[in-house]
Amino acid sequence: MNVSTPSASIPRHVAVIMDGNGRWAARRRRPRAIGHRAGARTVNLCIDFCLARGIGALTLFAFSSENWGRPEEEVGALMKLFVGALDREVDELHRRGVRLRFIGDRRRFSEAIRGRMAAAEARTADNTRLTLTVAASYGGRQDIAMAARSLAEDVAAGRLRPDEVDEAALGARVALADLPAPDLFIRTGGDLRISNFLLWQLAYTELWFTETLWPELGIEELEQALGAYASRERRFGLTGEQIANAQDAVPGEGHS
Ligand code: IPE
Ligand code: IPE
Ligand code: MG
Repeated sequence: MNVSTPSASIPRHVAVIMDGNGRWAARRRRPRAIGHRAGARTVNLCIDFCLARGIGALTLFAFSSENWGRPEEEVGALMKLFVGALDREVDELHRRGVRLRFIGDRRRFSEAIRGRMAAAEARTADNTRLTLTVAASYGGRQDIAMAARSLAEDVAAGRLRPDEVDEAALGARVALADLPAPDLFIRTGGDLRISNFLLWQLAYTELWFTETLWPELGIEELEQALGAYASRERRFGLTGEQIANAQDAVPGEGHS
């Protein structure tokens, strides 16, 4: 088998930094909030794309722990959009077999938003076609710090020995622990950085960046990202030869 075209060419899990809404609005001399509203449409397009292509997990970075520091007016507009989306979209997501979940520090959201988040999660909990995780008030460092705290609590309570603290124990306590790690990461908006997204989970994720601003992202570019992903050789620290042999040994099996 040609190792540059691995059989597991469709990612199981795609993680996206939806960036560029503010610049999209600025180019039109409109308030940033208008850019965020335009960006909400691309979210639906992205969900449709995953459903159509059989991608089982999509994780979207909607609001970082650092984004709370933006001007009050923008944060307020984003919260309003969030409430509106929860009120409008959950029925349709449920109908389409999407399991909706949220990661991040919910304590910072209003009671009204927290209630809607919990209701949406409970309602869609048994759906299996697509796990859609929205990272809101999320930070990768905070995620790892909370996992470390949970380990410390277990050690202090005698449930865990210090020598049982390892990658598996920490990995089981970070967000998305029940999903395969993201295979493909996409960032729009032209910046080549991770911006405190899934720091632990992206260790061996294939990264793909585009200059296109989030509100303008289309299906063609998502196809391009999948094409790029399919052409990458994922080695996970091994040699290309080892990977080729492993694929030959188990035809049709990807390497996770
Ligand atoms: C991403 O778009 C959405 C959020 C961070 C909430 P931005 O608002 O960061 O847009 P730019 O990067 O300023 O263009
Ligand atoms: C990352 O984008 C966060 C989200 C898309 C939600 P930012 O716009 O906040 O990232 P920086 O500030 O350019 O690194
Ligand atoms: Mg940005």
